[in-house]
Amino acid sequence: MERVVARSREPPGDDPVLTAVLARPDDIDGWRTVARRLAAGGVAGDTIVWQVGDTATDLLGGDVLPPGDAPMFTVPKEFLAVASRVICNRDAERFALLYTALTTLRTRPKLLDDPADPLVRRLYDLDKGVRRDVHKMRAFVRFRDVPDPEGERFAAWFEPEHHIVRLNAGFFARRFANMRWSILTPDECVHWDGELSFTPGATRADAPDGDALEETWRTYFASIFNPARLKVKAMTAEMPKKYWRNLPEASLVPGLIAGAAERTRMMIDAGDKAGMSNAAVQAGAGAWVRTGDGGPADALAELRDDAAQCKRCPLYGPATQTVFGEGPADAQLVFVGEQPGDNEDLAGRPFIGPAGQLFDRALAAAGIDRTRAYVTNAVKHFKFEQRGKRRIHSKPDTSEIDACRWWVDHERAAIRPAVTVALGATAARSLTGKAVTISRERGRPLTLADGSEAWITVHPSFLLRIEDKAAAALEFDRFVADLVAVRERLAALAGAG
Ligand code: URA
Repeated sequence: MERVVARSREPPGDDPVLTAVLARPDDIDGWRTVARRLAAGGVAGDTIVWQVGDTATDLLGGDVLPPGDAPMFTVPKEFLAVASRVICNRDAERFALLYTALTTLRTRPKLLDDPADPLVRRLYDLDKGVRRDVHKMRAFVRFRDVPDPEGERFAAWFEPEHHIVRLNAGFFARRFANMRWSILTPDECVHWDGELSFTPGATRADAPDGDALEETWRTYFASIFNPARLKVKAMTAEMPKKYWRNLPEASLVPGLIAGAAERTRMMIDAGDKAGMSNAAVQAGAGAWVRTGDGGPADALAELRDDAAQCKRCPLYGPATQTVFGEGPADAQLVFVGEQPGDNEDLAGRPFIGPAGQLFDRALAAAGIDRTRAYVTNAVKHFKFEQRGKRRIHSKPDTSEIDACRWWVDHERAAIRPAVTVALGATAARSLTGKAVTISRERGRPLTLADGSEAWITVHPSFLLRIEDKAAAALEFDRFVADLVAVRERLAALAGAG
């Protein structure tokens, strides 16, 4: 049972102390019902004790309760959204803080617009902690096949920091709609069999361990690990140690870190063979490894963090995670693609799937070092249609492109590249704000609204879709020619500067 004392001081005079009982630690509906009645009755926050799950000592009732027809009042929608997350935080004061906010909103309806207010700051901090935990759960839950006489079933063990199982359940239900699954946690377990159900918490011993799925994850993780970009601090921040023991791939981490220097050297050797200088490869790696200095690198890190919680359009719902741009903060060249694909959505990195591999080949052919460019997408969430077990790419519409433009603009504002390249029509729309005919605009510089220079070319996926081999080879050469023109333009701009 969680007993939460809301009093910040002893109640004044002989004011009775009330105990407000909630069904669960994240019981937002229960909290709303009780809090509204108490607030409407003018009950002071410091006379309330909030308690979870034990009605035996429920002191609420009788003449202390406001009359049934007590006037209800409305609060801004945003408060309800924030409250439904804040209540999931394990902080013992959350119920009381929310109550204070609720009563304050009656006289200051714009309270939440004042980020300098200490109460608002505190609520936003609690909210941020919950949103981070929600994101971690989405990224680190790993299902394993478990024996079930009724057919295929998957289970995962996860230890959330806050009470987020119900808050996150809808995401997993949408994302894994075609599987039967359970997520076991110490507080509460959630199950999906075509509908959601919840059971009390489990122990780690109840969780399944080790099978073929683990091997798949390990292979996958090793294949996406790029030693030249190793930044141990960032890596362990994204994948905090406390989650390691529940991740099959985590057993690889110490080995990957230990072997990184050697693998970087091998990449430099490989770079040599591909005609790149050691300095170019190392400069790319170095720029990425460089830690924040309050400048563009920090600005980008902050943007990436904020984007992880982005809900500017509905695409965040079914997607696994935000796929933010990556590359050095001082890149002179930025590439903007359309949106992450299936592989990118799972890995959280842009252009690593088939289109990314073709893009890499074209860059190498054009003599452009990808590690020195910043690569991002016009839309940061994967948009897809679920067909059976497959997730089929679906084109983002203009409202989604325009909603996500905010991130692209901020990425470019932080980096201030000499040249931005739009890969395809979606990226061109994002950069110019209007529909663009690629064939008409490709191969020459355009000036964007902020005065910077953009070039437009085709998207690598366009090349992948061409079935005729000769036509595909021709289009590949045209794509490389566009990239060569960009490289030459960059050199000219650098010479002029
Ligand atoms: N296509 C894109 O536009 N971006 C990616 O990251 C992957 C495929």
